[in-house]
Amino acid sequence: MLTGRIAVLFIHVTAVIVALGGALFSTFALTPILAEELEPAARVRVARRVIRRLGAIVLAALGVLLVTGIVNVIYLGAITPALIVKLALVAVVFALALYQYGNLGAEIWRLSAGGPSPELAGLQARFRRVGITVGTLVLAIVYISLGLTRAGAIR
Ligand code: HEM
Repeated sequence: MLTGRIAVLFIHVTAVIVALGGALFSTFALTPILAEELEPAARVRVARRVIRRLGAIVLAALGVLLVTGIVNVIYLGAITPALIVKLALVAVVFALALYQYGNLGAEIWRLSAGGPSPELAGLQARFRRVGITVGTLVLAIVYISLGLTRAGAIR
């Protein structure tokens, strides 16, 4: 039952859950409640720490996805056109996630040291938009992967 291939696929899918789950929780549960419950200065202090920690978790999960993905391809022994479509979307997701946490997140971390500001609010809004785009693309990749695997197109 538990082959090496299944074990790698398990880690692969778990990494998707960690990356997507964390981003969805932060965007749709944590951030709105912080806005309602905390004073602007406290909200900014908490949000900047959440972005930094979430960034480390999401980027680590994407790293695991890349490594286990490569092992998945080795197990499959073939790169089909459908898998190439998936990998093109994955490349966009990786680029957006690096921009979101590596660029916007770092700017939010730097700027928020000075407390709330209109510029910071603009950055946080862009961070959220990029996050929703990444989440939507990841859901599309999951759908493609499930569909392709079951249709044998990935194999
Ligand atoms: C955001 C990034 C990614 C997401 C959300 C994702 C999602 C998934 C999911 C949900 C499955 C399981 C499908 C199933 O069990 O039916 C899967 C399988 C697979 N993924 Fe990914 N994946 C990602 C990145 C990658 C990368 C970077 C590669 C290759 C370098 C890759 C290669 C594969 C392969 C080959 C399989 C099929 C494995 C098998 O059937 O044994 N994935 N992926």
